[in-house]
Amino acid sequence: MTTKKKSTLRELALLPLRGVAVFPYMVIHLDVGRERSISAIDAAMAEERELFLTMQKDAQTDEPDMDDIYQFGTVAEIKQLLKLPGGTIRVLVEGLRRAKIVNLKSADPYMRVEVEEYTESASKDMELEALMRTLVGQFEQYAKVSKKIPPEAIVSVVTLEEPGRMADEIAAHLSLKLTAKQDVLEAVNVKERLELLCRLLANEMEILELERKINARVRKQMEKTQKEYYLREQLKAIQKELGEKEDRISEAEELREKVDKAKLPKEVREKALKEIDRLEKMPPQAAEAAVVRTYLDWILALPWNKQTKDRLDIEAAEKILNDEHYGLKEVKDRILEFLAVRQLAKKMKGPILCFVGPPGVGKTSLAKSIANALERKFVRMSFGGVRDEAEIRGHRRTYVGAMPGRIIQSLKQAGTKNPVILLDEIDKLGADFRGDPASALLEVLDPEQNNTFSDHYIESPFDLSKVMFITTANVQYNIPRPLLDRMEVIYLPGYTEEEKLQIALRHLLPKQLAEHGLSKEQLVVSENAIRKIIREYTKEAGVRNLEREIASICRKVAKEIVAKKIEKAKVSAQNVEKYLGIPRFHYGVAEKKDEVGVALGLAVTEVGGDTLAIEVTIMKGKGKLTLTGKLGDVMKESAYAGFSYIRSRSSEFGISDDFYEKYDIHIHVPEGAIPKDGPSAGITMATALTSALTNRPVRKDVAMTGEITLRGRVLPVGGIKEKVLAAHRAGAKTIILPKENEKNLEEIPVNVKRKLKFILAEHLDEVLEVALLEEQK
Ligand SMILES: Nc1ncnc2c1ncn2[C@@H]1O[C@H](COP(=O)(O)OP(=O)(O)O)[C@@H](O)[C@H]1O
Ligand SMILES: [Mg+2]
Repeated sequence: MTTKKKSTLRELALLPLRGVAVFPYMVIHLDVGRERSISAIDAAMAEERELFLTMQKDAQTDEPDMDDIYQFGTVAEIKQLLKLPGGTIRVLVEGLRRAKIVNLKSADPYMRVEVEEYTESASKDMELEALMRTLVGQFEQYAKVSKKIPPEAIVSVVTLEEPGRMADEIAAHLSLKLTAKQDVLEAVNVKERLELLCRLLANEMEILELERKINARVRKQMEKTQKEYYLREQLKAIQKELGEKEDRISEAEELREKVDKAKLPKEVREKALKEIDRLEKMPPQAAEAAVVRTYLDWILALPWNKQTKDRLDIEAAEKILNDEHYGLKEVKDRILEFLAVRQLAKKMKGPILCFVGPPGVGKTSLAKSIANALERKFVRMSFGGVRDEAEIRGHRRTYVGAMPGRIIQSLKQAGTKNPVILLDEIDKLGADFRGDPASALLEVLDPEQNNTFSDHYIESPFDLSKVMFITTANVQYNIPRPLLDRMEVIYLPGYTEEEKLQIALRHLLPKQLAEHGLSKEQLVVSENAIRKIIREYTKEAGVRNLEREIASICRKVAKEIVAKKIEKAKVSAQNVEKYLGIPRFHYGVAEKKDEVGVALGLAVTEVGGDTLAIEVTIMKGKGKLTLTGKLGDVMKESAYAGFSYIRSRSSEFGISDDFYEKYDIHIHVPEGAIPKDGPSAGITMATALTSALTNRPVRKDVAMTGEITLRGRVLPVGGIKEKVLAAHRAGAKTIILPKENEKNLEEIPVNVKRKLKFILAEHLDEVLEVALLEEQK
């Protein structure tokens, strides 16, 4: 034990303390004013200047008695005494030892007590040593955090040797509660005292830490706004100092203003503002800054909320469709129905229109007319060459040179969120447009999901539900199936010569005149001239080349007028060649001969209906049947079917029974580069074959189509209208069709029907009867 009771008791004057604890070794000023306290001091001064200091339990008590004071206190020496004006005395005291009251000697005129004193030695064991070190460590840490303890105090405490004294000095420095201080005073046992202080320090540290956290939190909240303002001002100042343009600030400010005005959706707005903050902090020339700027430009340019009001007048729509397109009655009716249904069932999201037909039949321009009719903006998006998903959905911004996809680009171009977007030639993407990209397009077209279309670049979802999508394709087969399922297909098979003539006179010619700055008087193109152009300069289902030829005439005339060679021109059937050169096609087959082994078939290709000549040659050989001209399997099979039928009936046709043993047969379909398939050339091949074997020529003005069975039956085929128009274009006069296709004759325009003779065949015998002439001698 390092603490010892002194053997003798001492009698001392007692000075009760209010709100302050005095430890041994502590030097402190006390201001004394109470009468009894002054008497105590007077008494002490008379006896070795020593007195007993102890705290009142309650500082408010004016006349404390024994019950109001603690038993434990400190014996102190009065070092100095100063009388202050007003009767108070300031005393400087120094604590000497702990002591405990054992007896009250007298209460008046001051409290006089008998105390038992404690003395401590500096000796210590290892445990105490360890406790001291811990305490010193904790105290240093506390001092660091609290910042209230002067450094010299720390030094003096750390260098102390006596453990008890160290504890007392540390206690004196801490801002402890008075009761805690009293606990320290009462801890007579030095080890217990050190332990108590360790606990108190740890406790204080925790409180300090909590305080710090609370402070930090409060400051953070308060500072955030102030700090930003402050930093921004500072940045301005710095940039000004550097002579750097203030426009960076104003750029950001300007952008913020724009964002405010742009009526962006909340999410987009927040994102934009965040990007502006980022931009502001970047050096202006940073590559990243350019990226952010471009991004913001895109966000600001998109029509998040802009939309045009639809014209909901079906009659007006009809007028526009009629004004801009000749003919196409059925197509227009279906478009109008579609628009009417859309109007009635606003919420019901209808299918998407898909125009299917060969080039130049007006698919694209019809879509444009629909936009005009609805008074919506129109954007055309071509799919030629679209390869990957990113073209539709965009690239993530992390890519260098990233851009939004075409859908978003189209919307920017339109400037409204409800344009008509034409997805032109979606069959063109059929070839290299698979997997993910197709699903991206599906999402675009799906009314269930397209209200939150997400472009990788834009990041925030865009609402496509107000967009009216229209698609076009040359052939339906190339459209990915799931896309096709969402669409309402409208076919545009192509025009008759008469229709083309009308289209040219009413639309193409006036349009081209206007485009070339020519008046109706300056260039007159006669009806016959146009007819000649249709027949001898073009061979198409649509009117694209026709328009091109007319444009080329306009160009030449315009050039001559500008060169002042002529004032006006009149183009007739006689002088077309002067403008367009020699005719490219021979109209009709009139000049051709009736030939053996050649029959004219009909087919539907990507460019519409077309004629298909089939040639058969017979050579001496061993009965081999060869097929050339890029024929598909179905077509080959139908060639064999025809061949078998003829073999089975050879005697009736007057063909020697063993022809298939002595001869090789070669069936060829010219224009070998174009793949051909389907069963519809069956009767044509059989006719050519019979012609070759019997040496009976085929009538040159007959064209035919139909599937053939092993027994010679003629089965129906598709695409009758396209095929008949193609046959008519090629100058055929008689057309052989399967009997079961009779109903399809309704589709054919009357003026074409009038000029043609139709044979409806059920059996190959009827076909041969019409198509073959007498045997050549
Ligand atoms: N029925 C029609 N009436 C008036 N012009 C037409 C008609 N059909 C096509 N055209 C015109 O022919 C040209 C080619 O049409 P376009 O729409 O490009 O065809 P597609 O998209 O089917 O290939 C355009 O100038 C178009 O206005
Ligand atoms: Mg087109």
